[in-house]
Amino acid sequence: MNDLEELVQAASADFAAALTPAQLEDAKARYTGKSGRVTELLKGMAALTPEEKKTRGAAINETKRRIEAALTERREALAAAQLEAQLRAEALDVTLPGRQRGVGGLHPVSRTMERIEQIFASMGFDVADGPEIETDWYSFTALNNPENHPARSMQDTFYVDLNDEAGRPLCLRPHTSPMQVRYSRVHAQRHAGLEPMPEIRVIAPGRTYRVDSDATHSPMFHQCEGLWIGENVSFKDLKAVFTDFFRTFFETDDLQLRFRPSFFPFTEPSAEVDIAFADGPLKGRWLEVAGSGQVHPNVVRNFGLDPERYIGFAFGMGPDRLTMLRYGVNDLRLFFDGDLRFLGQFK
Ligand code: DAH
Repeated sequence: MNDLEELVQAASADFAAALTPAQLEDAKARYTGKSGRVTELLKGMAALTPEEKKTRGAAINETKRRIEAALTERREALAAAQLEAQLRAEALDVTLPGRQRGVGGLHPVSRTMERIEQIFASMGFDVADGPEIETDWYSFTALNNPENHPARSMQDTFYVDLNDEAGRPLCLRPHTSPMQVRYSRVHAQRHAGLEPMPEIRVIAPGRTYRVDSDATHSPMFHQCEGLWIGENVSFKDLKAVFTDFFRTFFETDDLQLRFRPSFFPFTEPSAEVDIAFADGPLKGRWLEVAGSGQVHPNVVRNFGLDPERYIGFAFGMGPDRLTMLRYGVNDLRLFFDGDLRFLGQFK
C-alpha cells in the first residue's frame, strides 16, 4: 500500500472513531486542516520537478477528494444517528392507556342546597345570596335583637377585627337571617309607589358561622333563610309551603309536620318545625328541621315597610341536617373533613 492509500485508510478509521460532530471536526483538522497531513503533502511538492508535480499533484488531489468524501459520509451518518436518537427519545407510545380524569361530583350539601333552591323556585321563591362577613346591625339589631339583649348570647358569634361605619365590630354571620333585611329593603325601595307592592318571596341559602363543634355542630355550617311577606300571608301559608317542601325534598307523602312554640327575637309568635316519617329507619321520631314564625313588626319596619299593612312569615332551616337525614349520615363533621372516600359515595 502506498503512502497515499494508507492516508485514506487512516483518515477513514479516524472518522469512524469520531462519535460526535465535534470529534469529527477535530479528526478532519488532522488531515485537511491548515497543518493537516494532506496540507503538509501539498506543501512538500515545492521541491519536485514540474513533471513529478503533475503526477504527484493529481494523486494527492485524488487522495484529498477521497478523504473529503469519507468525511461527508461520516457526517451524514452521525447526523442520521443523532436524529434517530432524538426521535427515539421523543417517541410517543400511542398504545399506552390514557391518563384517567377523575369523575367529579357535587358535595352532598351542595346537592341539598340545589334541591332546596329548585323546590322553592318552583313555588315562586327568588334565591338570594349575601355577604358572609356581616354588620352588627343586619346580624342582630335589625332583627329585633337589641344591643345587650340576652337573646344575642343564643349565638356564640365569631367577631372580626374590623369595625363597620357605625364603629361596631363586623362578624361572620351567625345565621342567614340578615338576608331577610337586606333583600326586603332593596325590594321595598325598588317597588316604592307600586300599589300593591309585589309580595316578597325569597330564600337565602349560604354559609354561616358559630363557635360550636361536635358531632352535630360545626363552626362553619349552612342555613337557608326563607321569607314571604305580603298583605295577607299567614301561618296557614307557612304550613302549606313547609308541607309541600318537605314532602318533595324527602320524596314521600307519608310525612307529618308539627309546629312547637318557641322563641326568636325576630318572629312573634315563633315555632320550631318538626317532621316525622311514617316509614324508614327514622319512623315515628319527631325531628327538628327548622325555626320559623310570623315576622315581628319591628323587623317589618326595618324592611322599610309598614307593619300595619305587611305581614308574613320567615323561617330558617339547616341544609346540613337535611343532608344527614336524607342520606342517613350521623356525624356532621364528615361533610367538612374533605375525605374523598366519604364524599365520593355521593357522586
Ligand atoms: N336564625 C335562626 C337561627 O339561626 C333560625 C330562624 C328561626 C330563622 C326562625 C328564621 C326564623 O327566619 O323565623 O337559629
